Amino acid sequence: MPTALITGITGQDGSYLAEHLLGLGYEVVGVTRRTSTDTGSRIEHLRERITLAGADLLDQTSLLALVQKHQPDEVYNLAAQSFVPTSWEQPVLTGEFTALGVTRLLEAVRIAKPDARFYQASSSEMFGKVQATPQNESTPFYPRSPYGISKLYGHWITVNYRESYGLYATSGILFNHESKRRGLEFVTRKISYGVARIKHGVDRELRLGNLEARRDWGFAGDYVEAMHLMLQREDPKDYVVATGETHSVRECCEAAFAAVGLNWEDHVVVDPIFYRPAEVDLLVGDAALANAELGWSPKVDFQHLVEMMVEADLALVADEMKRGILRSYAASGS
Ligand code: NAP
Ligand code: GDD
Repeated sequence: MPTALITGITGQDGSYLAEHLLGLGYEVVGVTRRTSTDTGSRIEHLRERITLAGADLLDQTSLLALVQKHQPDEVYNLAAQSFVPTSWEQPVLTGEFTALGVTRLLEAVRIAKPDARFYQASSSEMFGKVQATPQNESTPFYPRSPYGISKLYGHWITVNYRESYGLYATSGILFNHESKRRGLEFVTRKISYGVARIKHGVDRELRLGNLEARRDWGFAGDYVEAMHLMLQREDPKDYVVATGETHSVRECCEAAFAAVGLNWEDHVVVDPIFYRPAEVDLLVGDAALANAELGWSPKVDFQHLVEMMVEADLALVADEMKRGILRSYAASGS
């Protein structure tokens, strides 16, 4: 039974990847960092089937000990400070997690298990102010946030360890992918949760930032399959993973409110507090290489994705109301 080590297992992608790998017969070791509150709600249903191990991307010794102990066949580095607005508020910490954290983990692999296959969670945010449309593996990068710049470092250090040490290290350049497990601060989930609250009469309005930004949104469950496929090739290579469709935040609002029979224009309020210092206006990926060489293609389209998320949040808000535990939105900037 191969062993997969996943950093960021408590996040959206980590939970879907763990499910997928368990289904394929892997032994899954999930990395968690010490926190004073429980961050394991996304993997609650998997707790009996996975091994949890403590380590932190900020701490080299803990990562080395982790890889030494578990001797993984595959390492998926999904942990990061992944929320773009926070990267302007905490640029140094974002660099420590999202950029240097990759080097720390690569060092641990190089020293303790050099034949492990390594996956780095790179991002379409690296394309930023896009230099060509659609974006593929050859498109030049132009990141627009401390997050995007940190991811670019993580991307190149992964390429560098492949070329310097012959590690099997790959980088998946993934476009936005969403689900009912997406953090509430990301725009699709903020919309689906907001729609559910309005439909249930909890709120009357939903405050958002730039409605004209366009993203290539796919389903996280589809994207973790691509991560695994990338590590099954004979030679390591980097791939773009995307749907090839782009939609604006406004279109996402339209679809989500329409799913519950409401008109988005009656509820959405544009609030400049959510504008970013530098915006990524348009992302749309070309995943032809992943399709040709990995046999990967997305199964869930935009409309279905939005409907799935709204349906899940309608049930969630109803449950929160019943139990008297309705959440409030996170602090400003989200
Ligand atoms: P997410 O939900 O924000 O999860 C991030 C994970 O990283 C959490 O498990 C978090 O643990 C962990 N983490 C953060 N700092 C850490 C540290 N210092 N040490 C150990 N663990 C740490 O992110 P996601 O959406 O699943 O994304 C997974 C990865 O893909 C991220 O690297 C993200 O940047 C990248 N990515 C995401 C997308 C997307 O659209 N979702 C697209 C491209 C790339 P806690 O639970 O303890 O906070
Ligand atoms: N979060 C948020 N909240 N975004 C808003 C809002 C709002 O109220 N209003 C408009 N937006 C716009 C943002 O300005 C951005 O252009 C777009 O919606 C998407 O924002 P997010 O959902 O926060 O995602 P992101 O594209 O910045 O980053 C996500 O995708 C990247 C891949 O391209 C994250 O998952 C990153 O970790 C990931 O790398």
